[in-house]
Amino acid sequence: MSKLRKQSLPSLLAATLVVGSVAGSGSVAVADSAAPTLAPLDSISMPIPPDNKQTDAKIALGKQLFFDPRLGGDASISCSSCHDPEQGWAWAEDFSRGYPGTVHWRNSQTVINSQYMGRQFWAGAAASGEKQAPSAAKGGVAGNGENDIMEARLALIPEYVAAFNEVFGDEWPLIGNAWRAIASYERTLVQTDTPLDNYLKGDASALSEEQVRGKAVFEGKGGCISCHNGPLTSNEEYVNIGVPPNVRWQEDGLAQITFRFEQYAKGQTEEGYRHAKSDWGLYYRTKNKWDRSKFRVPSLRYTMYTAPYMHNGIFYTFEEVVDFYDAGGMDSEGRTTLFPENKDARIQPLGLSDDEKADLVAFLEAFSGEEMIIEKPVLPEYQALFTEAELKEVKK
Ligand code: HEC
Ligand code: HEC
Repeated sequence: MSKLRKQSLPSLLAATLVVGSVAGSGSVAVADSAAPTLAPLDSISMPIPPDNKQTDAKIALGKQLFFDPRLGGDASISCSSCHDPEQGWAWAEDFSRGYPGTVHWRNSQTVINSQYMGRQFWAGAAASGEKQAPSAAKGGVAGNGENDIMEARLALIPEYVAAFNEVFGDEWPLIGNAWRAIASYERTLVQTDTPLDNYLKGDASALSEEQVRGKAVFEGKGGCISCHNGPLTSNEEYVNIGVPPNVRWQEDGLAQITFRFEQYAKGQTEEGYRHAKSDWGLYYRTKNKWDRSKFRVPSLRYTMYTAPYMHNGIFYTFEEVVDFYDAGGMDSEGRTTLFPENKDARIQPLGLSDDEKADLVAFLEAFSGEEMIIEKPVLPEYQALFTEAELKEVKK
């Protein structure tokens, strides 16, 4: 196999246009002229915060907590409710399910490989897994939990009391440590043995001929590589690629409630609150109008199991996604972002043939290995803190 890689026009453009916006510490102009490449995921290691080291006991506790609905408002909804292992560790509808009585306004992201990402969420609103977990468990349309209640519940579960004591030295479980344990568990949810990884590590038979041709389209005429590159298949930039708004925000009453709630909660202007018809993405963090409807370049890993796609779940198949890119960031009805002035210059009509599209779709499947279905953990039960005899003893 030839090691030559054609440098596509989009990736050349990328090399001159890329300015790392708010990712990381500040604004850094990237003047790297080397064409970006795909790389095996195990060529990098999982970032572990020095104050939250991985231990087996912590990971086991985090796993139970991830599946435990008592870390939520009405004890009916856990992390795993919206990140269901059987739905790609996500939720198989355009918008995620919400807290009872609500629907979410964004597509649920898979947690597989998520902890490699520098920032969490579609628009990077959380700086780490430790910070992401409480915002999920407490957010009004997600877990809607309240710290003191959640902490009190943990205190009445003897197995958790013992585990928090062993892992963190807590006399009684501290809610902040629940998020640390969950983040540790999430750092174990990785997949490094996809056909793509095996191929990149030298197993030429790991990809079909169709997929090998699709890889060439991905890296060449398709220009996908300029954003979906490196071991994560994401350069972690924030980009507006032209995804049109989901009409559900306008047509479905329940979806509209969350849409408006989120505009308000994220500090939208009054003008924007009244008129916004789409998700403004990175804007909510920076309040810069040129950041409207920019989203973090997602990883393409594990996406075989995480349809529908995009921040608002408007595409249900890889075919639709490829058609969207082929049309220069437009859906089948010619709709695009409401902020075309922010649309990335790398997104242009591609002129792919039907064969090239089919090859590209086949290649997208190579970013996923086996489906990661696990046995759900058994959850420990509540127990009263004191027996009747003990209480009588105290009264004396
Ligand atoms: C009601 C559904 C719901 C619940 C409950 C929920 N999530 Fe999420 N999760 C989502 C949605 C939707 C997103 C994308 C939200 C966004 O970008 O604003 C998300 C995003 C994430 C991400 C970001 C992944 C990435 O690639 O950046 C992680 C990690 C995550 N959730 C973990 C958790 C954990 C841990 C819990 C429990 C403490 C939890 N979630 C509870 C729906 C939910
Ligand atoms: C300019 C950067 C850029 C280029 C070039 C690019 N993408 Fe993307 N891609 C993104 C961003 C950003 C998103 C998320 C957009 C959103 O949700 O609004 C995305 C989303 C996706 C998704 C959905 C992932 C998910 O989890 O929902 C797929 C699949 C995808 N791209 C494949 C491709 C393919 C195939 C190509 C080449 C034809 C390509 N991308 C080119 C930036 C890019």
